Amino acid sequence: MISEKGGGPMVERLQVELLNDAFNSFQEASRQLETQYARLERRVASLKKELAEKNRALERHRRLAAMGEMAAKIAHEIRNPLGSIGIFASLIEEEVDGAGKAGRYAAHIAKGVKTLDTLLGNMLVFARVPEPRLAAVDVREVLDEALTAVRGCAADGVKVLRDYRGDGLVMGDRALLSQVFVNLLINAFDAVGRSGTVRLIVRRSGADRAEIEVRDDGPGIPRDQLDRIFDPFHTTKEKGTGLGLAIVDTIVKAHRGSIDVKSRPGKGAAFIVRLAPAHRE
Ligand SMILES: Nc1ncnc2c1ncn2[C@@H]1O[C@H](COP(=O)(O)OP(=O)(O)OP(=O)(O)O)[C@@H](O)[C@H]1O
Ligand SMILES: [Mg+2]
Repeated sequence: MISEKGGGPMVERLQVELLNDAFNSFQEASRQLETQYARLERRVASLKKELAEKNRALERHRRLAAMGEMAAKIAHEIRNPLGSIGIFASLIEEEVDGAGKAGRYAAHIAKGVKTLDTLLGNMLVFARVPEPRLAAVDVREVLDEALTAVRGCAADGVKVLRDYRGDGLVMGDRALLSQVFVNLLINAFDAVGRSGTVRLIVRRSGADRAEIEVRDDGPGIPRDQLDRIFDPFHTTKEKGTGLGLAIVDTIVKAHRGSIDVKSRPGKGAAFIVRLAPAHRE
């Protein structure tokens, strides 16, 4: 007779099945834990990366702020003595009636003083984040005025094409925006050199952004320079100050707008300024 003591084969089978189930559930749970763990690890890695990027941006911001402060101090210190030099140069010019060597030298000094004064003015604009006086501005008009002001900087073989879509009304400070477009236009003209095409595009991007694009078909910007072009004093030009785009960036940010650059070496560069649109009353 077979003893059924201890539960018998039926119960044993049941126990094995239960154990099997438990084991399977355990395996499933540990698989899920592993996936979750891997997901968490990926999240931690991406957060770490984000933090490192933010730290880099903060560091860059601090550095730029320090540079801006220094630039403002230097500009202030230099402006007064420079003013005196300018005045004395003009006095000499008057004294000699602009004639002879002395007249020519004095004119050279006066011209140099003017160039330096413009540079110092730019340094001050860059250093003192200007507070824009916002009003509804037709950005197409500002672009056209900027173009008239600097058209002479472009070579004869340079074509300027305008593609204005929409009403072009933005909330902005006319004088400051004009500086933005003057700088972008001069850069585009410098980039295309003797012949090329510069396009000015105005368009709406969704309900809450107006886009203004200044695009050229010059040599473009090397990839490794893209994140430095907005840094003050970064220039690749013999006579550049490297303040143009730093000022552009400062002004656009003061408008709570944004600026993007798209460029592929050999394919030109496009600077896209995004501003808040103004609505017609
Ligand atoms: N449209 C462009 N195409 C190619 N490179 C550009 C363009 N715009 C700017 N850059 C690059 O970015 C650099 C910085 O431009 P930024 O306007 O700040 O200074 P700059 O033009 O060199 O001097 P400044 O504006 O003070 O006369 C330029 O020297 C150039 O190398
Ligand atoms: Mg420039």
